[in-house]
Amino acid sequence: MPKDEVTGNKSSPKEKVARERSEQQAQLERHIGARMARIRHKVLIASGKGGVGKTTAAVNLAVGLAEAGDTVALLDADMHGPTVPRMLGLGDIRPAGGEDGINPVTYNERIVVMSIAFLLPHDSDAVIWRGPLKGKMVDNFLADIDWGERDWLVVDTPPGTGDEILSVAQRIKDLDGLIMVTTPQETAVASACKSLTFAIKTKTPILGVIENMGPFTCPKCGYKMSPFGEGGGERIAAEFGVPFLGSVPFDPEVVTESDKGRPLLLSQRNSSAAVAWRNIVGEVRGLVTGRAGPDHDPPKAENKTAMSGELQPRSK
Ligand SMILES: Nc1ncnc2c1ncn2[C@@H]1O[C@H](COP(=O)(O)OP(=O)(O)OP(=O)(O)O)[C@@H](O)[C@H]1O
Ligand SMILES: [Mg+2]
Repeated sequence: MPKDEVTGNKSSPKEKVARERSEQQAQLERHIGARMARIRHKVLIASGKGGVGKTTAAVNLAVGLAEAGDTVALLDADMHGPTVPRMLGLGDIRPAGGEDGINPVTYNERIVVMSIAFLLPHDSDAVIWRGPLKGKMVDNFLADIDWGERDWLVVDTPPGTGDEILSVAQRIKDLDGLIMVTTPQETAVASACKSLTFAIKTKTPILGVIENMGPFTCPKCGYKMSPFGEGGGERIAAEFGVPFLGSVPFDPEVVTESDKGRPLLLSQRNSSAAVAWRNIVGEVRGLVTGRAGPDHDPPKAENKTAMSGELQPRSK
């Protein structure tokens, strides 16, 4: 039987494997801890139900924070349906290796992005993995990507409470919180309850609830429409005693613009949905940093050039 190098005790092969595993685990956690220590604030975008606007929220939050002068790392932790690159118009880009890990893809001077979509040979390729592999990929993204010094890490996740979100919640020890996205519809709200319960069980702080695809006013006739109902987001926030971050109206422009790879905050700056997203960014920023929203935030010395919201993606 092999002897333990430190104590001289004999250990079984099983014990040896277990010890090696726990050493690897500790090493991984140290590695992730070192990367994460260089990022000030970390938020997680979640939902119980699919298609409610998580990725739209993650992308517009990243763009809004950058507009306010912050630097952002945007991680797409959705392994089966990675759409962050598409929503940012970063179709055929491949990340390159750097000196201290893999370099994330640069969207503009303040936003860097990582997604499994960048690693797939073709846009239409599907990732067919069982749970543990997905969690492991999230570990790799957190440990091996050279995120550098950033103000924010925004993590987009798939719907529900699967391996990806669990990995993020477990690995990032100083997560500022989870932002729940729901539509006002009862089925979405009911699923959101499960995700909020997940947050409570995993001791993940909850930053608040965003209601997306809420009521909107027809620009032509002025009639108020509520395709998915109204008030669901505010109701669930009150039920769980967490902040309601705001309601984003349903807006067909969101669909056309995101299909073209243009976040609404940049392309339709004055639309009611863009204004709602900007207010939500202010709420999140205020809650996490304790500072006022972007409109009142003093420009950072190193970022004097681009405070006007004209922070466009780099030319591709
Ligand atoms: N406020 C809105 N008004 C109209 N359409 C919207 C709005 N927000 C998002 N959408 C559209 O709804 C669709 C789903 O949005 P998105 O991909 O952000 O949802 P998701 O929760 O990330 O979905 P999944 O669960 O598949 O990851 C997209 O086509 C998006 O453009
Ligand atoms: Mg998504």
